[in-house]
Amino acid sequence: MAKGKKPWGGRFQKATAESVDRFTASIHFDQRLCPYDIEGSIAHVTMLARQNIISKSESLKIVAALKAILKDYLRGKFEFTSADEDIHMAVEKELIRRIGEIGGKLHTARSRNDQVALDVKLFLRAENNNILVAIRSLQTVLIRRAKKEIKTIMPGYTHMQKAQPVLLSHYLLAFVEMFARDAQRLEACGNRLNVLPLGAAALAGTGLPIDRALTAKMLKFPAVTENSMDTVADRDFIAEFIFCTSLVMMHLSRFCEDLVLWSSDEFGFAEISDAYTTGSSIMPQKKNPDIAELIRGKTARVYGDLVTIMTLLKGLPMTYNRDLQEDKEPLFDAVDTMKDCLSIFTEMIKNTTFNAAAMNRAARGGFSTATEIAEYLVRRGVPFRRAHEITGKIVAYCLKYKKELEDLTISDYKNYDKRFTDDIKNAIKLENAVNARRHTGGTAAKAVLQRINEFEKSMDKSC
Ligand code: ARG
Repeated sequence: MAKGKKPWGGRFQKATAESVDRFTASIHFDQRLCPYDIEGSIAHVTMLARQNIISKSESLKIVAALKAILKDYLRGKFEFTSADEDIHMAVEKELIRRIGEIGGKLHTARSRNDQVALDVKLFLRAENNNILVAIRSLQTVLIRRAKKEIKTIMPGYTHMQKAQPVLLSHYLLAFVEMFARDAQRLEACGNRLNVLPLGAAALAGTGLPIDRALTAKMLKFPAVTENSMDTVADRDFIAEFIFCTSLVMMHLSRFCEDLVLWSSDEFGFAEISDAYTTGSSIMPQKKNPDIAELIRGKTARVYGDLVTIMTLLKGLPMTYNRDLQEDKEPLFDAVDTMKDCLSIFTEMIKNTTFNAAAMNRAARGGFSTATEIAEYLVRRGVPFRRAHEITGKIVAYCLKYKKELEDLTISDYKNYDKRFTDDIKNAIKLENAVNARRHTGGTAAKAVLQRINEFEKSMDKSC
């Protein structure tokens, strides 16, 4: 092909301006789709031969050349320029350069519009699996830690005020639950996108006798898309995937926010290992939780990716429009950022220790077992509202005389209600308060261990 001449150049009198090549090119970011592009092309060309649309020997020649191109790409030997426009053009051009005109048969019954949808789906399918593995390994680390910390009691907060004592294990398992939902969501998204787009061609399908089911089988798609217009216009799967990513990031970010607080001198609940913190260029004493902060920051970036794809799609007329080329950078950014964050977070949490004594100390203060007193009275027949009021008065008394609930004598309690007996002192002990919550979802060690057990069983199954 003459220099500057495009594969689609037939109807053009002039070569495109260099600035246009540069402006319209996506090769600098979509070249990472190369392995998927070639995988899709091999299946497509094999189907063409089976359907006698091209000859067997032509298809074998094309397949061999595509495999050789892939090999070169994987060795970093396949060079691209902006004149290549995108990965689809680059591969086709290289194919024709290597085997001549026969290479031009590859694009029979296909358009870049269905081709690019296929490439992105294949990419997402592979990355989704990697991400699910990363989520699972983070869950495993958290479960292991939850088991180890089964006796550690910390204050649970609402409104950032001490609320009730909980097990640190219960806190850790809360995130295992979040990541379990994330994994389910990603799996569902993966199933929904696992539908072959190839065959939609530009937008209306093709008059050539293709066999879409055969291509689907070769590429391991359980189904083919049902409407060619929808197929080339659809980027729902990208939006959905980035939304799933945003939720994973949000969960990581909330965990990070707690870790930042907990590693402050004021809290002293956690210490992130030196290897996973950074120093200050001016203050020699500083040890900063930068990884946690950066994950929080990068969450904003992934939300930006989600907003980009949603905005990109909202005003597009049917069907394919070149705007859609802008779908890839936010997608790649979301995938790369999430993978990075999952991996560094998992390392960091493995290298973080929790200060059980500081947590326990903090859990004791702030009348965090006041609800126990109310529930104690409820067990003795007092309506909850009344029990709440009596307990409130006891707390007010403590505040006035600068006492903790444990400091009160049994006769102090009896002043507020005759139904109090000696065992109230036991009921307000942290361990007892925690272990009283034995129902499903409660923070008692028994309930938490039960959930750990269930998680371990389901993880075993999914590995
Ligand atoms: N690079 C394009 C994209 O990413 C490929 C499809 C181009 N199709 C077209 N008809 N110009 O969307």
